Amino acid sequence: MSVRIRRVTAADKPDILEISRLTWEGHDYLPLVLDDWLCDENSKMYGVQIGEHMVAVANLRVIENGKTGWMEGLRVHPDHRRKGYADVLTQKLIEEGEQLHLERLRYTTGIDNEASVRLAEKHGFTRLFEVGVLFAPRPRKTPKMDTHVNIREADAAEKTEHHSLWGFDP
Ligand SMILES: CC(C)(COP(=O)(O)OP(=O)(O)OC[C@H]1O[C@@H](n2cnc3c(N)ncnc32)[C@H](O)[C@@H]1OP(=O)(O)O)[C@@H](O)C(=O)NCCC(=O)NCCS
Repeated sequence: MSVRIRRVTAADKPDILEISRLTWEGHDYLPLVLDDWLCDENSKMYGVQIGEHMVAVANLRVIENGKTGWMEGLRVHPDHRRKGYADVLTQKLIEEGEQLHLERLRYTTGIDNEASVRLAEKHGFTRLFEVGVLFAPRPRKTPKMDTHVNIREADAAEKTEHHSLWGFDP
């Protein structure tokens, strides 16, 4: 079957949403930001197409007045993992960054995400520091609260993941 690396378009949304549905038990933020990325001129989203379907995606977002490339949203469909597609997309984003004359590339990933850490090391990224990331939902509308419900303070550990920030300065 033919393998093609190309820019992602709105027509690829169903395939990307399917990858997200199968990622992190459906707790993937990509569906919340996908429309924004697709219409953002500073977002360069690439994917790997096999046959009729997009099976892997990643986004390079140009920030800080064109100086920094923020790499995000790297996802590979579970049926197509460990075949080098994340590797290929990482290389593609690095090349895109070079063409855009970016001064630096950055991304964060969970410290226990072995594949992602391996990709960083393999492509010459340096671990800059470790951060605790606090995740909080961003509801468009504040949910109605029942006043009789016991509200307790969330334990930071319940909402925090440890990520490392990786940097590549060509
Ligand atoms: C992380 C992810 C993108 C990797 O995709 P992939 O296409 O399977 O990765 P590749 O086949 O290109 O492998 C890249 C490297 O990671 C290694 N690797 C891949 N999966 C691994 C795993 N589960 N455990 C340990 N190493 C792994 C590969 O061996 C390879 O290293 P090598 O070249 O030294 O052999 C994929 O597992 C995924 O979509 N996970 C869920 C989302 C996610 O974690 N995204 C990144 C968050 S920032």
